Amino acid sequence: MSGSSTGARRRAASRPVLLMGFMGAGKSTVGPLLGRRLGFSFVDLDTAVSEHFQSPANEQLAAMGEREFRRREGVVLEDVLQVRNLVVALGGGTVTDARSRLIIRAHRGCLLWLDVDWPTVAHRLRGSTRPLWQGSDWERRLLFDRRRALYAALAEVRVDARQDALTVAAEAHRDLEAQRVV
Ligand code: S3P
Repeated sequence: MSGSSTGARRRAASRPVLLMGFMGAGKSTVGPLLGRRLGFSFVDLDTAVSEHFQSPANEQLAAMGEREFRRREGVVLEDVLQVRNLVVALGGGTVTDARSRLIIRAHRGCLLWLDVDWPTVAHRLRGSTRPLWQGSDWERRLLFDRRRALYAALAEVRVDARQDALTVAAEAHRDLEAQRVV
């Protein structure tokens, strides 16, 4: 029947959805909720990097520096994207790496930006020990502004992530369907 074969084709062709956004945007919280709504698997890239290299991602970053950490993220991302029907929570800085951006493009990944403003980030990250959150106030703010410009340039879908996670997941789902990504 043409209806069911169209359905099968659509399912087979689902693009991976990659959650992008600053630390504290809620990628790891929204990701499983969105995955459940879509019937997709969920992978947290930080967790996958931790498992692959058998050391917490933040410790790897602190120990070996950002350049090597980005290389490792890219290796694991390529592996993760072999799975179909997938939602991935990227790390906050994954998309700063040109190779990871190429990998995402090669897999027709949809970059969904969880957009949060500075006051929300500053509030959510109070006391955070993430290595790239340890600088001075102005260094953090500079990182945020630079990243925000990059996310804006790369995003295919943008969701206001200041709201609670269930609402963010529902809006992301609605927007992905409206833009025929899923
Ligand atoms: C990073 C964000 C972290 C983690 C690492 C680097 C970044 O992930 O990958 O500390 O560069 O912004 P979250 O965005 O999940 O906190």
